[in-house]
Amino acid sequence: MVLPPDMSTSHILLQLLRNHTGNWISGERLSRELGVTRSAVWKHVSRLRRDGYTIASAPRKGYRLTQTTPLLLPEEVQSGLRTRYFGQGKVLYLEATDSTNTRARELANRGAPEGTLVVAEKQTAGRGRKGRVWHSPEQEGIYLSLILRPKISPLEAPKITLLAGIAAAESILSLADIDVHIKWPNDILIGNRKVAGVLTEIASDLDEVSHVVTGLGMNVNVRAFPPELQDVATSLYLEIGRPVDRSALVRTFLERYEPHYTTFLEGRTDAILERWKALSRTLGSRIGVEISGRRITGVARNIERDGSLILETPDGKMHRVFSGDLETL
Ligand code: BTN
Repeated sequence: MVLPPDMSTSHILLQLLRNHTGNWISGERLSRELGVTRSAVWKHVSRLRRDGYTIASAPRKGYRLTQTTPLLLPEEVQSGLRTRYFGQGKVLYLEATDSTNTRARELANRGAPEGTLVVAEKQTAGRGRKGRVWHSPEQEGIYLSLILRPKISPLEAPKITLLAGIAAAESILSLADIDVHIKWPNDILIGNRKVAGVLTEIASDLDEVSHVVTGLGMNVNVRAFPPELQDVATSLYLEIGRPVDRSALVRTFLERYEPHYTTFLEGRTDAILERWKALSRTLGSRIGVEISGRRITGVARNIERDGSLILETPDGKMHRVFSGDLETL
């Protein structure tokens, strides 16, 4: 096995066990391959167990990985990740943090490269759009932030929300054939309930973006919501009826997002909008939205190339909506 030189012994041990998942691998062989004593092998196994891996051990047989960890550890997220750079470098893993977007912004300000990923098991101040709180219970959801450095004007940046929304909806569709759709601009719904949301935060100089942080929150294995969310939120567990592997889902999200981002950088906005429209139910439906403090209702007619929504009011006038919360009527 060819291993990168900076891999820790526990990490290499994990690779060896993973390559033999379900089969025994002797302590002697592990100690030989890792170049450590058998008691050191035991210590590394204990550490992996503390990280949530289920590893059986038996005299004369050795060790066997029976179940991977439920945690969103970098080695899990990166194991078999098929991207060029999204999530491929250092992944900042946090058991708890206020907001992964805040952590990502700090990293970006210190020069972290494009594709740097921050994941947390829990957020104490997860942010949604418009200053809302994102419910972030421990180990039940995906709370991640990805740093991007597109060489674009700040005016182009809102489209990135659309890309991440498409990738999030596609990741869910890869699990099950369920009624997932995007509500403009960034809500991912199953039926009428929200399952995921995207928060795009942009830092820019006068005419160029210096970095973008894409924050994704997804209700994955949430079994019950607080009363105020019960009617408006749902989770994959509640919809599909089984727990979902969060690490695999993060990988799928990154693997979907990266090619859409490349399409965007190549300027192929039409392809993005087409995909977005196919996944959205917003167009053609009657909606209400607040524009400059005034609530208007009408029919959503189109998404423009800059990501804004065109709303037709009953008097036939077209209004351009750049941001806001849509109410489907
Ligand atoms: C929304 O629907 O209003 C957007 C929700 C975005 C929530 C995610 S969770 C990970 C990242 N960190 C945050 O503080 N917010 C985003």
